Amino acid sequence: MSHIHIDVENLNFSYENGTPVLKNLSFRASENDSVGIIGANGAGKSTFLKLLVGLNLNFTGSIRIEEIPLEKKTLAKIREKIGYVFQDSDSQLFMTTVGEDVAFAPRNYGLPEEEVEKRVQEALEKVHITHLRDKSIFKLSGGEKKLASLATILSMTPDMILLDEPSVALDPKNRRNLIHVLNEFEHLKLIASHDLDFIWDTCNRVVLVNHGEIIADGSPEEILRDGELLDANGLEKPLSLTGR
Ligand SMILES: Nc1ncnc2c1ncn2[C@@H]1O[C@H](COP(=O)(O)OP(=O)(O)O)[C@@H](O)[C@H]1O
Ligand SMILES: [Mg+2]
Repeated sequence: MSHIHIDVENLNFSYENGTPVLKNLSFRASENDSVGIIGANGAGKSTFLKLLVGLNLNFTGSIRIEEIPLEKKTLAKIREKIGYVFQDSDSQLFMTTVGEDVAFAPRNYGLPEEEVEKRVQEALEKVHITHLRDKSIFKLSGGEKKLASLATILSMTPDMILLDEPSVALDPKNRRNLIHVLNEFEHLKLIASHDLDFIWDTCNRVVLVNHGEIIADGSPEEILRDGELLDANGLEKPLSLTGR
C-alpha cells in the first residue's frame, strides 16, 4: 500500500455564520487517484480543498494526510506534502518574474541555492514553460499564469496536488495544454470543478458533492454518463458525452 494518501472521516464544517457547509464527509484517496470533485456552485468544493490544506481549522471530524492528523502543530509538515493551486492565479503569484516565483518557496524553505536552481528548472520543465522563466508575471496570459502557478507548487515536490477550478478563464488551446500537462503528472490529484468535460479528460474517479454531502463516488463512466444523477444535482453531462 502506497504511503501517499488522504483520509477524511466525518468532516463537518461551517463558516462563522453557522450554516453547515460540509456535512459528515468521509473520503479516502491514494496514490494513483485523480479525483474530480464535482458539484454545482456553492456545493462546498472549494471549502473542502481549503480544509485539506489547513486554511481553516475549525472543523470537526478528522483529516489525515499520510497518517498525520491535520492540526495547527502539523500544518507546516502537511503543507510540504500538498500543493494547492488557487482558483485565482493572481493570488498565487506575487514575485516579479516566473522564475522568482517558482524559486520562492524552496528558497524560503532554506534549500541551498544549487538545489533551488534544480527545483526551478524541473518544475518549469514539467509544465513546459522553461521559456517563460524571465517573463514578468503581469505580462502572462491567463493560461500561462495557471501553468506558472502549478510550477510554483511543483518546486516544493509535493506528494499530492489540489486544484480549484483550474480551467476557469482558459481559452481552448490553453485548456487543452493544461489537460495534457496534468495527465503527465503521477501525483495524487484532486480537481474541484464544475467543468465536467475537463474532469472527464483528467480524472479516473469522480466524487459528486451537493450541499456539502457526498452524493456519489465512482468512475467517470458511471457518474458523468448518468444524466439523471447530474441533473438532480444541478449539473449537466459533459458536452463530449452528450448524444452518446
Ligand atoms: N468565506 C466564507 N464565508 C461564509 N460562507 C462562505 C465562505 N466561502 C464560501 N461560503 C459558503 O459556503 C458554501 C460552499 O461554498 P464553496 O465551497 O465556495 O462552494 P463551491 O466551490 O462548490 O462553489 C456556499 O454556500 C458559500 O456561500
Ligand atoms: Mg468553488
